[in-house]
Amino acid sequence: MKKKVFAATIGLTLAAATALVHAKMNADEITAAQGAFANSGCTACHSATDTVVGPSLKDIAKRYKGKKVEAEIADRIREGSTGRWGDGMHPANGGVEPDDAKLLAKWILNGAP
Ligand code: HEC
Repeated sequence: MKKKVFAATIGLTLAAATALVHAKMNADEITAAQGAFANSGCTACHSATDTVVGPSLKDIAKRYKGKKVEAEIADRIREGSTGRWGDGMHPANGGVEPDDAKLLAKWILNGAP
């Protein structure tokens, strides 16, 4: 029993360490994310610093700071979202590839560098 708890603790520690490493983005990833944001129609409703139709990227990063929501946000980028920020609706962006959605979520949660 004790061994199991110990193993679980090590597992969690490793997962946390991996999450930290993943949170950092290299220059290529940042360029790719900026490109995906500009080319996927996101800019029609989102700005880095101002609320347009949707919340600013800065506000999104602030709300979820320190929370492990990257996968959830990636799903919502593709599947749509409403009622979290107000009356507006974030449309389903089915044309965004899952990998791009993950990258966009990571980029936005990192403050959209
Ligand atoms: C037609 C306007 C529109 C477009 C296009 C749009 N969004 Fe949104 N987005 C919104 C609105 C409105 C909200 C707030 C939804 C809510 O209240 O739940 C939102 C919310 C979000 C959120 C926060 C989700 C959450 O769970 O808090 C993220 C991240 C996001 N959008 C990213 C993107 C990305 C990336 C794209 C391009 C692929 C995009 N949006 C395209 C309007 C849009």
